Amino acid sequence: MRVHTPVPASQIRAVILVGFMGAGKTSVGRALSRQLGWSFEDLDDRVQSRERRSIEAIFRESGETGFRQAEHQALRELISGLNDFPQIIALGGGAFVQPENDALLEASEIKTIFLDGSADELFRRCQEQSLERPLRSDAENFRTLYEKRRPHYLKASLRIETQGKSVDAIAKEVAAALGIGA
Ligand code: S3P
Repeated sequence: MRVHTPVPASQIRAVILVGFMGAGKTSVGRALSRQLGWSFEDLDDRVQSRERRSIEAIFRESGETGFRQAEHQALRELISGLNDFPQIIALGGGAFVQPENDALLEASEIKTIFLDGSADELFRRCQEQSLERPLRSDAENFRTLYEKRRPHYLKASLRIETQGKSVDAIAKEVAAALGIGA
């Protein structure tokens, strides 16, 4: 867990959702933005529009290193562009574990929420989605990557268990835990 000076709920202007592939960062982010009337942005979307190519094409043509560089630039731009309009942000599954992003987020003091779930459940959810995920691979590699990254996700300001809960219920739980919204 990061140690931050407590920010009064009324002063929270941005919330960042983190977690592994299939955690529901985008769908919960959208639901939360609807519930709060805040805007929503998915970091992967910003990466794709800055690069004018899909995540899959970035990985294929520039490798993971190229993708991480593009992701870091997009995150830097997104954070420096934050203003008085409150915003929910969903990061891609690997963004929070990159040291250069960690430093950026730490300095920003934005609340980070780890959407947690078991590797089996996350793999199952990914299989159900048509989304291309270059790092998804097979169940065993998925679990290995998940276990390697989980300690990093646990550094988020808050952890919310997602197993067996609806997207709307998770979004409500995030808002309640932060003391924001109705
Ligand atoms: C990645 C997760 C993806 C996307 C990219 C890399 C990862 O985002 O950023 O394929 O490293 O786990 P989602 O977590 O939204 O699938």
